[in-house]
Amino acid sequence: MKWIACDDYDDLSLRAADTLLRAIRTDPRTVLGLPTGRTPIGMYDRIVQQCSRQYHCFREVVTFNLDEYVGIPREHPASYFSYMRKHLFDHVDIDPKNAHIPNGTAQDLDAECRHYEAEIARAERSLRLTFLGLGRNGHIGFNEPGTPFDSRTRVVSLEASTRAANADLFPDGHVPTRAITMGIATILESRAIVLLAGGSGKREAIERLRAGVVDESFPASALWKHDEVTVLVSATS
Ligand code: GLP
Repeated sequence: MKWIACDDYDDLSLRAADTLLRAIRTDPRTVLGLPTGRTPIGMYDRIVQQCSRQYHCFREVVTFNLDEYVGIPREHPASYFSYMRKHLFDHVDIDPKNAHIPNGTAQDLDAECRHYEAEIARAERSLRLTFLGLGRNGHIGFNEPGTPFDSRTRVVSLEASTRAANADLFPDGHVPTRAITMGIATILESRAIVLLAGGSGKREAIERLRAGVVDESFPASALWKHDEVTVLVSATS
């Protein structure tokens, strides 16, 4: 695991954006795993700035988001579908059919999860480069503590602390209780992984990850089982 201590949040965002843009330059048809949350917003801002100066950027890129809430419409301002449009997809030349986000309003959620997993497998067999945020409790995607490391895309219940951490995005107070998330095994099949963690709120989780104890009670520790992981850490967020 390669650890990079960034100067600040701007530096973290710049490094993350450079890594993503380099991957696209190397392989314009690359398959990316993409995160949501507050941490990657700076990365997406940088990417949008850079791509506005290029003619082709995301034209043939394929993306799979890590997760989505269950039970809120895609148009809801707090859905990850809306988030991705706002922060990236509306500003770059990605083909909407190549931008995958789990459908949290599917009638048959289990079928949707199987379908999502199959779509990832179809796209070059696995993800090429996946970016992750880090929950305070160590979650990656929405894989909460206790998630088996061999888990696949599925419906999960959200911990009270996770719902509280995201509650300000739901001013009506109706914070979803469930989500669809890529599994830990799905994430670990990505050929390379970049974890982004900024701010004092993540310090404890970062220290626990750095300690290197691999245990299902701390989902991010699964990353120690992978040999191409970069962790970008900054003291500010
Ligand atoms: C959310 C998302 C995760 C994200 C994490 C951290 O619940 N499902 O994918 O990485 O929490 O979010 P933030 O960057 O806002 O702290």
